[in-house]
Amino acid sequence: MRKNIVAGNWKMNTTVPEGVQLATEVNAALAGKKVNCDVVICVPFTHLTSVNQVINQNKLGLGAENCADHKSGAYTGEVSASMVASTGATYVILGHSERRQYYGETSETLKEKVALAFENNLTPIFCIGEVLEQRENGTYFDVVKSQIEEALFNLSAEDFGKVILAYEPVWAIGTGKTATDDQAEEMHAYIRNLIVEKYGKEVAENTSILYGGSCKPSNAKALFAKPNVDGGLIGGASLKCADFMGIVEAFD
Ligand code: PGA
Repeated sequence: MRKNIVAGNWKMNTTVPEGVQLATEVNAALAGKKVNCDVVICVPFTHLTSVNQVINQNKLGLGAENCADHKSGAYTGEVSASMVASTGATYVILGHSERRQYYGETSETLKEKVALAFENNLTPIFCIGEVLEQRENGTYFDVVKSQIEEALFNLSAEDFGKVILAYEPVWAIGTGKTATDDQAEEMHAYIRNLIVEKYGKEVAENTSILYGGSCKPSNAKALFAKPNVDGGLIGGASLKCADFMGIVEAFD
């Protein structure tokens, strides 16, 4: 059966010492505790190597928040999937709405990034989600369908089976405005059905689909109780150990 996963997305927050401190706290909170989900933190590139040194990856997975769409070469300022993998990280967030919105990421570039992630044994946490206007004009199913089809449906069933999806309605990210558990469930069920149609029931049943967007300890339990919500991608609330653990513990 598919895994339940709670993944933190630190975004552009914390200095290296602050990040190491936060990772140390989360690692300590997980040590000796039995939790009912996989726990991952995705941190800035600059933090990966140092954070890897203070966590036990059997209990706390490590990921980057992005990687380049090229293997290597003259791309000043970019960080490749192989560089990420060489830090000891095993996950990478791809297609986050902030990358799409502010850094011009398209399905074409994302396709390259997904392929490079796989070449380097990184598990993609692939984000999809509509903006407010698309929610309001009722095109949100089509938007999410295109995002998935364009960047992921070229994958073999085997590779697709390794992708973690994160549905993040953009209007809910960092706004304090969470999708209701019914809105999340409706979209997650729709996504799972798309996967059934493309790859069959077995792959669909095994794909973890996380919800992201103002997920916090107070609403995580209701969201995670929905049959098609397999965990969360957590921004703001992943920056405080107690809040993040509160969400992890929503799987009891
Ligand atoms: P948020 O961010 O939890 O701060 O809304 C979620 C995300 O963007 O991954």
